[in-house]
Order: sequence, then structure tokens, then C-alpha cells
Amino acid sequence: MIKYVSRIFINNLLDQVDIVKLIINKIKLKKKGKNFFGICPFHIEKNPSFVVNAEKKLYHCFGCGVHGNIIDFIMNYENLSFLKSVKLLSDIFNIPIHNDKELCFSEKKNKNDIYYQLMFNLSFFYRNYLFRSLGKKALKYLLNRGFNLYIINYFSIGFSPLYWANKIFRNKKNIEILHKKLKVLKLNKNNHNYYDIFYDRIIFPIRNIHGFVVGFGGRTLNNKEPKYLNSSENNIFYKSNELYGLFEIKKENNIIKKIVVVEGYIDVISLFQFNIKYAVAILGTAITNSHIQKLFNLTNKIIYCFDGDKAGIQAQWNSLKKSLPFLIKGKQVCFMILPKGEDPDSLIRKEGRNLFEKRINNTLSFSKFFFKILLLKNLFSSCEEKTNFVYKALSFIKLIPDNFFR
Ligand code: UTP
Ligand code: MN
Repeated sequence: MIKYVSRIFINNLLDQVDIVKLIINKIKLKKKGKNFFGICPFHIEKNPSFVVNAEKKLYHCFGCGVHGNIIDFIMNYENLSFLKSVKLLSDIFNIPIHNDKELCFSEKKNKNDIYYQLMFNLSFFYRNYLFRSLGKKALKYLLNRGFNLYIINYFSIGFSPLYWANKIFRNKKNIEILHKKLKVLKLNKNNHNYYDIFYDRIIFPIRNIHGFVVGFGGRTLNNKEPKYLNSSENNIFYKSNELYGLFEIKKENNIIKKIVVVEGYIDVISLFQFNIKYAVAILGTAITNSHIQKLFNLTNKIIYCFDGDKAGIQAQWNSLKKSLPFLIKGKQVCFMILPKGEDPDSLIRKEGRNLFEKRINNTLSFSKFFFKILLLKNLFSSCEEKTNFVYKALSFIKLIPDNFFR
């Protein structure tokens, strides 16, 4: 496995590979003038808005906005890491990667490489502990909640035992990074030992869209507060950018007709186990513009499905407001209101997959949910109240970019 390729090699690869030759093998392209047009493989569309420019060696989609070079294309289309994509391209086009050290190490590594590497090692370590004697109670907990070994492995669920830090990471520099940059380790001021902030918790590694582990969620096993501890933000992890499960659902589907947005890690994993492989979770925050953009790059339909309580409905209303500017032609948001006290995990276990999927197919449309909530919040007994209502509604509606729908 290659660990690093030089910029010189990358430039050479970008220079030598014919982007049209690469892409035409994957999707149908038609020549029009200087450019080649095709149906975009990254979102659902009927008319081709995906353009490949041989001269500039770039692709661009006017529908969903994706763009990039041959490496970006392979990373996204094949769901591979950067290095694996480079390796694949070098294999297809017979451009060998030199193992000449001078060439390979003549430039500085990307600063983030070491962070990704350490996060991966850590995730591997947690995962192993789940199956050792120290992890017994964690594994038992997961099995008792109905998760099977396949799904536990698929999501790389792990366990962090007590006091491991000093034993595992002997390299001082790595410990410093885990402490200062990635903020997984903390220093005990009394005995000057490092400890893991996730100790004694079940670990859910959070992968970014390319499959790199960028953070963790840790669930307590014994009602210790907080129930879930999440990685703090660091060089490679911004909560407002990441969605739990996004990498996995992309891996599972070429075309994603709809994406269900849920609140918890457990909800995503449960749905997945019940063969609903199109759910993602926000990471203990409200949905952001960046989340919505990411989702609409992959699908035309977002379904907000939060817990069946007051807070859940409020979060759905807030998500509606956030989504307004993204409602261009063809894009829609829907709302799934769960029975009181239920979340997707509890409900699918009670009802089974078929009934749950029926709910997914019977969501409230944007307009139904919008007026339902707005009517609850307003009165109509006088002209003044009616006028207020209209102005309130218009203040939201005017944010919708699709003229016809607006
Ligand atoms: P929930 O409290 O709804 O938990 O939090 P859950 O998903 O039902 O999990 P189980 O079934 O009790 O195990 C939903 C999400 O909110 C965030 C986490 O991202 C969690 O997945 N959260 C919750 C936190 O960040 N911290 C907390 O203390 C609690
Ligand atoms: Mn739950």
C-alpha cells in the first residue's frame, strides 16, 4: 500500500490522463462543440447537465454543482480515498508510481495526513477492544439492544477501556497531537498521565464523506452524563459539516432517491440493520446550510425525521426554515412525525421495516407541515390577526427560490 505520492507525480498524472477517456467509460457522453455532455452520476436528473472539458481537464455539473479533476471524479464516483484513487488511475493508465524515495519525499506531507492516520489507528484500537475481555460489557450491551455483529463491524463500533493512553501511544509527538490537536486525550494534572476523554464508553467513529475517521461519539454504559460525548472540533472535524452515515449510504447506493435525516447515531445504525440504507444523523447540533447542500448534492428529497416530542417538532420547524433557500426546482423537503416518545430506533424495532417504510412514504409534504405548524402558532378571529398571519407566512415563502412553487 502506498503511503504518499509526490506533487510531481500528481501533476504528471493530471497532465497525462485524458479526462474524457476516463469518464466515457463510466457514463455516456455526447460531444457538443468543445465539450462533452452527459447525465450527472452524482445527482438524479433527466436532462444532461454534466459537462466534461478535455482541454481544461475538468468536469462540472450545472445541476448539482459538483466539479473537479480526474482524481476528484474517481474519489467520488468510486468512493475511494485520495491515495487509492491515485493508485487506481496509475493502474488504469499505466503510469507507474515511482518508489524512488527522493521523488516521493521531496515535498512535505499534507499536514492533515498524520491526523487522519492517528484517528484511524485509534478507531482500530477501540474496535479491537470491543471483542476483548475489557469490552465484554459493551459488546453485551450492543447485542442486548438488538445489533448484530455484521452491523457492529460495518460501522466499526468500538469500546474505550480505562487508562490505556500511556500504554498504546508511546510516540511523544503522536501523544501531543492527540492531546493538543485532536483533543482525544487530556492530561491529568495530578499524576501527569494522559487519559482518553471517551474512557469507558461505546465508540461510534464518525467518517467524513471520503471515509476518513474524523471524530468519535461515545455513549455511556452506566448513565454517566453526558449520555453521548462527541469529539470537539479540530483540524479535520467540523460538526456543522459532517453527517453520521453519509459515507456509508453513499457506498451503498449509486443513486439516492431520498435521505432520511435523524437525530442519533443509534437511529442510523438501526435503520441500516433493517435495510433502510439511506439515513444520516446530525451530530447533536441543528442542521446547517452546509449539511443541506451536501444532502441535496446527493439526492432530490430530504426527509426530516426527528424524535416524537416537542423538541423534535421544533427541530423540524427549524430545519424547514433553514431549507427554504435550497428549494430550487426538483428539490423537496418532507417531514415525518413520529408517535410521542418514539425515535426511529425504538419505532422500527416495534413496528418492523415494512410499517416504518410506509411512514417514510407517507410523510408530510413541505406545504402541509408548513401550514400545520403556522396555523398552530397563529390566531384568525380578526382581520388584524389574519393580516399578521399572511405577513408571517410570506416572510418565509419569499425565501423559496423556485418561482413556480413559491
Ligand atoms: P438521544 O438522546 O435522542 O439519544 O440523542 P438516542 O439516539 O436515542 O440514543 P440511545 O437510543 O439513547 O442510545 C440523539 C443524538 O443527540 C446527540 C448525539 O449525537 C445523539 O446521537 N447527543 C445526545 C449528544 O450529543 N449528547 C448527549 O448527551 C445526548
Ligand atoms: Mn434512542
